[in-house]
Amino acid sequence: MFSTEQLTIPAVPPENAMAGVPEHVLKLLNRLHAESVEQESKISRDDFNERNMAEVMRDKFIALDRDKAQYVYALCRAIGARTIVEAGTSYGVSTIYLALAAAASAKAADGGRPARVIATEHEPAKAARAREHWHECGDAVTNVIDLREGDLLETLKENLEDVDLLLLDIWTPMALPTLKIVQPKMRHGAVVITDNTVGSAKSYKDLLEYLRGPGSNFINLTLPYNQGLEMSIYLPH
Ligand SMILES: C[S@@+](CC[C@H](N)C(=O)[O-])C[C@H]1O[C@@H](n2cnc3c(N)ncnc32)[C@H](O)[C@@H]1O
Repeated sequence: MFSTEQLTIPAVPPENAMAGVPEHVLKLLNRLHAESVEQESKISRDDFNERNMAEVMRDKFIALDRDKAQYVYALCRAIGARTIVEAGTSYGVSTIYLALAAAASAKAADGGRPARVIATEHEPAKAARAREHWHECGDAVTNVIDLREGDLLETLKENLEDVDLLLLDIWTPMALPTLKIVQPKMRHGAVVITDNTVGSAKSYKDLLEYLRGPGSNFINLTLPYNQGLEMSIYLPH
């Protein structure tokens, strides 16, 4: 496994992946990713035990790695994703990528469904800070985001349809219950992206068995990003 950020051959410069995105948004994303990486480097292995994980993570970004976020952005653009569900928003870093992509997809489609990113966060302080970050981006981002505060197993029950993409960036025990709520609202060809499916394979056992089992209606690929990134395409008969 490798991270694309560790490639020794010349890779596409990150700014190219986000061509057309305003400079102030790119600067903000750089700042937030740097803050997230710095925070994570200070978390010790012992901090991650099951007992106090929620407590340790209460004020942490744990943002999706930048190369993964850029991949998800590109994927959303490729499939024209306009209705996107984000399970686990934290301080709203990945949400910015999703909002930019949904807005661009809606603009390209010129009519039909509007851009909509349904974000989810149950920590009020995180939700408040996420809103500040989105505000810094401007209307193009804030207009698209529907942040649902509270337990996503409740907040995702209503007002959800035609989902093009689901980002599962949530505590592992929540992943399968979340998918089961969103799946009936997913369109044919919708994509589910799940973070860290190699690094956390044991904890994701139930989700991965569900996605990869016979008759699941998903085809699956494990992408070789750091700790793995699962791409599952929903193709019901
Ligand atoms: C890995 S972080 C999300 C990072 C974010 N996607 C990003 O890239 O910036 C997961 C988040 O899910 C939130 N969370 C955990 N359980 C939740 C639940 N039941 N309902 C809503 N949010 C939850 C946590 O508070 C945490 O902020």
